[in-house]
Amino acid sequence: AYTAEPFVPARGGLAALRRAAAGCRGCPLHRDATQTVFGAGSADARVMLVGEQPGDQEDRQGTPFVGPAGRLLDRALAEAGLDPSEAYVTNAVKHFKFTRAEPRKRRIHKAPSLREMTACGPWLAAELAVVEPELIVVLGATAGKALLGSSFRVGEVRGTVLEREIHGRPERLVPTVHPSSVLRADDREGAYRGLVSDL
Ligand code: URA
Ligand code: SF4
Repeated sequence: AYTAEPFVPARGGLAALRRAAAGCRGCPLHRDATQTVFGAGSADARVMLVGEQPGDQEDRQGTPFVGPAGRLLDRALAEAGLDPSEAYVTNAVKHFKFTRAEPRKRRIHKAPSLREMTACGPWLAAELAVVEPELIVVLGATAGKALLGSSFRVGEVRGTVLEREIHGRPERLVPTVHPSSVLRADDREGAYRGLVSDL
């Protein structure tokens, strides 16, 4: 099975994890992506935000949530009274998965498979063990399935605090929609209000 497990160092902090993750070949997604996009933020962060996977901009820059979805997320966090610079932000999957309609054309995001999410899980588990956040904000369906299982439905639990055992540790989680879904929504303002309200 695909797994990041053999690439995850047994000890060390975020810097050691980030260094090791740069060389991860736990699943085929590393082949076409530019680089591993590991989580960003302080090991002391009280809130950890978990997205799906890096997008086009994140893949180029090597940092999560620096593209359009990230800008919207930062704005929503600030409006909800959370300092974006104090949160730890990461993704369920650490390489960008994409397709191209034609060779050399724009890269189009593809949702990661359950196998890829499972393969990448050991990195998220390692980040949780180091950061020990007081709260995990689950951004959308992929992060929800990766953390809470394949039956996760964001509409059923958004904005509520769940207490679950995640990778062997008791965690508190608040699911909400993914900021990219706000950008795609017909009622963008309403979707944005919903995200701020959940946060
Ligand atoms: N969407 C995500 O889920 N993560 C990112 O880092 C950027 C966009
Ligand atoms: Fe490793 Fe995750 Fe990248 Fe797959 S997506 S190669 S498991 S870091």
